[in-house]
Amino acid sequence: MNKQANPQRWPAEAIWESVVPDWPGFSIEILPEIDSTNTELMRRARKALHDPVLLIAERQTAGRGRLGRAWHGELGHALTFSLGLPYQPHNWSGLSLAVGLSLAESLGPDIQLKWPNDLWRQQRKLGGILIEAASQGGGSYAVIGIGLNIQLPPNNDLRTPAAAISEFWAGATTPAVLERIAKPLLDTLKQFETQGFGPLQHRFNQRDALRGQDIQTSDGIDGLCEGVDDQGALQVLTAQGRKAINSSEVSVRPK
Ligand code: BTN
Repeated sequence: MNKQANPQRWPAEAIWESVVPDWPGFSIEILPEIDSTNTELMRRARKALHDPVLLIAERQTAGRGRLGRAWHGELGHALTFSLGLPYQPHNWSGLSLAVGLSLAESLGPDIQLKWPNDLWRQQRKLGGILIEAASQGGGSYAVIGIGLNIQLPPNNDLRTPAAAISEFWAGATTPAVLERIAKPLLDTLKQFETQGFGPLQHRFNQRDALRGQDIQTSDGIDGLCEGVDDQGALQVLTAQGRKAINSSEVSVRPK
């Protein structure tokens, strides 16, 4: 285990012990600051460093979100980490939905999911997921980055209205939230590798924030959202019939 900052604050030992039987070679690293945990694990992947790792940053100076956006998380105000895993699912479809579902189920009954990658609470964004992949020899290496708002900074002028875990979990801290979500998340990822998204479809749809809403996509699709299929594609009933949206390049907004 490689712990480089505030080792006593983070529950690295407990997480490591619970996870290592299923992920041999697993390590946990805690960095006081880095540009982006996803960027760092992708850099390592290019150097053929492909061991399973949980990389936590207490602060990111260049956090990245989906669709080329920046992701801002202030010190102590957000939990920011990435998992780097040698990963060979039969089918990658729905992976980000599976990750979101695991996080939502760990955090509470009123956490919803906004397809494909956002955690929502009361119509506001609680967190996001950025998944990237690199090839390793004949296989692949997944970098699964997660950012969760623990508290909202005083001047919260984010483009998207934001929610925070401290609103429903008094005294929530970044280490306590990590301790709650890490093991279930790694269990979900293990299950997804062999079984894919299918077994999770029903549970996702129960938390789908867009289901039953009129939505509009950034590539011009308009219609009624009917949940996701067993591959995690968003089902939209449009004037031209039902369409399945599966591109992660698309953003979706309720109308
Ligand atoms: C999004 O909402 O668009 C995705 C946000 C993902 C943010 C996390 S924070 C940890 C990891 N490192 C990054 O640079 N991004 C992800």
